[in-house]
Amino acid sequence: MKALVLNGVTPAEQITLSEVEIPEVRPGWVLVKVKAFGMNHSEKILRLHEIDNAYIHKPIIPGIECVGEIVHPSDSHFEKGQKVAALMGGMGREFHGSYAEYALLPAHHVFKVDTGLSWKEMAAVPETYFTAWGSLFECLNLTKEDVLLIRGGTCALGYAAMQLAKAIGSKVIATTHKESKLPLLKGADEAVLDTGNLQDQLSGVTKALELVGVKTLHDTMRCIEKGGIVCHTGILGGIYALNGFDPIKFIPNGVYLTGFYSNAPTQEVMDNIFSFICQHNLRPCLGAEYDFSEIKEACVALDGGKVNGKIVVKMI
Ligand SMILES: NC(=O)c1ccc[n+]([C@@H]2O[C@H](COP(=O)([O-])OP(=O)(O)OC[C@H]3O[C@@H](n4cnc5c(N)ncnc54)[C@H](OP(=O)(O)O)[C@@H]3O)[C@@H](O)[C@H]2O)c1
Repeated sequence: MKALVLNGVTPAEQITLSEVEIPEVRPGWVLVKVKAFGMNHSEKILRLHEIDNAYIHKPIIPGIECVGEIVHPSDSHFEKGQKVAALMGGMGREFHGSYAEYALLPAHHVFKVDTGLSWKEMAAVPETYFTAWGSLFECLNLTKEDVLLIRGGTCALGYAAMQLAKAIGSKVIATTHKESKLPLLKGADEAVLDTGNLQDQLSGVTKALELVGVKTLHDTMRCIEKGGIVCHTGILGGIYALNGFDPIKFIPNGVYLTGFYSNAPTQEVMDNIFSFICQHNLRPCLGAEYDFSEIKEACVALDGGKVNGKIVVKMI
């Protein structure tokens, strides 16, 4: 099969596809024919930096999510030909991921999907919508009465979160750090240019989805009404940890801080997401699509941050 195999730090421009053996099925793992996969900011981080860490199993086929069909169910409850989605759980880091024609995946991180979406639309969903869903509904307990701030709205996750929040009737304020990108936030009720200081500009915000991360978290916490919640989910600002964290001074009185990590998807949540998309007649947000033979161009686009929204790669 064709696959992208990484041995170390690899700039997008140096990417080529290799011919490798189709993996052999073993108990607890199922073989999936990949039909399409979404690309993620974390795959750029892996390929350009994280891959040198010892915990990354090398050589590694990257890719933390895919959609496709079961070609060999092994000892699982799946049936041959079943439509599935898979994400996370070490995919593309501890074991080979989705940038390949076939992927051998642990059955407990593979989920059946019942949807009328095309493969490319379906591929935009697993990681991005699972993260948006978990952040908004599991962590922020978002309701239609809320005013939601999405800080760092111009990313695949930002667009998906905006779509889900608007679908339940919440008011959404979304930010970008680039004035030229304000029109891309038309799905929000209000688009705001992020100058680094929002606390003096915004009022009435009850929930916040922090996608820029630690770089802006303190300011975001100060934008929130008493009783409100901030969910720290993204790290677009490039700072990953809060050193010298002093909770007493950092967290305003009566404001709650939570975080979401997409590593533990479940069949129940995946079913809820695809049903919600169907019930609300949503089209998953796509930024650009590429054929697998154009994987180098897709990675160049990912690294350059030129695509507005989810990049999807199709095998067919
Ligand atoms: N917690 C979790 O489990 C989880 C799961 C999925 C994703 N994430 C995180 O969520 C974030 C979004 O992921 P994604 O895959 O949706 O990203 P993506 O679509 O690849 O988005 C990258 C884009 O974000 C934009 N961006 C917006 N605000 C930015 C800022 N302040 N600094 C730098 N770039 C900014 C950049 O474009 P412009 O600079 O041109 O606006 C860049 O092109 C990432 O940090 C990712 O690691 C976390």
